Amino acid sequence: MTDPAPMWWQSAVFYQVYPRSFADSDGDGVGDLDGLTDHLDHLVDLGVDAIWINPVTVSPMADHGYDVADPRDIDPLFGGMAAFERLIAAAHERGIRVTMDVVPNHTSSAHPWFQAALAAGPGTEARDRYFFRDGRGPDGLLPPNNWESVFGGPAWTRVVEPDGHPGQWYLHLFDTEQPDLNWDNPEVFDDFEKTLRFWLERGVDGFRIDVAHGMAKPEGLPDAADEAEILRHTDDDPRFNRPHVHAIHRDIRAVMDDYPDAVTIGEVWVQDNAQWAEYVRPDELHLGFNFRLTRTEFDATEIHNAVQNSLDAAALENATPTWTLANHDVGREVSRYGDGEIGLRRARAMALLMLALPGTVFIYNGQELGLPDVDLPDEVLQDPTWERSGRTERGRDRCRVPMPWSGDAPPFGFSTSADTWLPMPDDFAALTVERQRNDPESMLSFFRRAIEIRKGRAEFQGGDVDWLSAPKGALIFRRPNLPGESELVCALNAGRRPIALPRGEVLLASAPLIDGQLPPDSAVWLTRVG
Ligand code: NOJ
Repeated sequence: MTDPAPMWWQSAVFYQVYPRSFADSDGDGVGDLDGLTDHLDHLVDLGVDAIWINPVTVSPMADHGYDVADPRDIDPLFGGMAAFERLIAAAHERGIRVTMDVVPNHTSSAHPWFQAALAAGPGTEARDRYFFRDGRGPDGLLPPNNWESVFGGPAWTRVVEPDGHPGQWYLHLFDTEQPDLNWDNPEVFDDFEKTLRFWLERGVDGFRIDVAHGMAKPEGLPDAADEAEILRHTDDDPRFNRPHVHAIHRDIRAVMDDYPDAVTIGEVWVQDNAQWAEYVRPDELHLGFNFRLTRTEFDATEIHNAVQNSLDAAALENATPTWTLANHDVGREVSRYGDGEIGLRRARAMALLMLALPGTVFIYNGQELGLPDVDLPDEVLQDPTWERSGRTERGRDRCRVPMPWSGDAPPFGFSTSADTWLPMPDDFAALTVERQRNDPESMLSFFRRAIEIRKGRAEFQGGDVDWLSAPKGALIFRRPNLPGESELVCALNAGRRPIALPRGEVLLASAPLIDGQLPPDSAVWLTRVG
């Protein structure tokens, strides 16, 4: 039997757009969908296949859109439905697919269902769509269990009942304004199905599914063994990755199968490979994010292990591997690798490594410019993590600062307003799209070239990765091709000394070679007949 033709998403380069921070068309200091539409040619130029847009549906923005009050309409802040329709048409015209974020685990507290639940009082059907429970201890003063919110503090908030007295508590694994939905209630899936079909009918090419390892809660909501760490959780955490979440994914897949070209990408924070792979079984998600490279130092052994582990995890279900170095939650890799020149060099090397791998690649807006995380003053921080952690965790605003497009001073063409939703640092002047576009040595030109080569050459088509022996501190792998055909070799030097190049003809290097050798903190692609 021959393998089915590959789907478009199996080797796609996705570009993640954090819409608040991409481009502002109406001068309110917050990015929006018309801003994105106006700048689509930047993405055409970069060569990406698809975009993933973080949530743009109606929201009070307590967690910048991950608190959804109406999942089937676009928030006016982002330009409303008309702007979304313009975006889809313009993107499709340019051959760029559009995927959007959907948030099944929770709603906003402003969602009509939650408002109805508050008004209806204890024991009602309206409350059964969420997790309302009586408190523990005298007068129900203590939360129903010891679960922590991922953003810090208890995962429960007590409500004032319609009679004016303190009453039940509701569960929110994230912010107070993000009550968790009860997926045992069939209305919850029915509504989610409506949402999926609503957007698919309007032309979206798929979904990034938020907290795809959430949704299912353990029977009786038992206490957690240990206090879970903020923004991290382990595989024995009762709040996530419960076995019955897979039935939900199968139901979602059955809907998606009516739109066979569309894709789902799950946010799956599950460490164990066997458990992670369950999410990408043939009747569940198409793709699952694998975050290992975002947790990896610039160290050859660590990178090798992260890559091999991610390949192994996907291979368990014959699924497509995915690669992510940065996103709106985990921070930017330039800073993770040491900031400044060294951070940039390493980020460039890692981009080459990531784009050399088989599977689906995700680039986070600004990554192609080499943006670092930004040190922001306390008073501008907006991530709910900052307040909920008692101002001990600064949160994720550092990697959400708006994109610099042009000019020498903030707001760098991002907006016509100087009052951008997060301040932009002066030193973004060196990193604007305008500055980098025509500079052949820039990070932007480098990304463009790497994507062009990846898309254009047969060496990138095979699905296998073979590790070759490498000097200390370095790693080398090849993508085997058919006998007699050229194959790709990728070498990355994370050591202290230059290393000899593997055999082959250089296709692209992340830094100039020195005396024909690969210097520290750089990577190279070569082609050769295997
Ligand atoms: C994961 C999203 O990526 C993050 O930004 C958000 O805060 C949480 N899910 C809650 O929806």
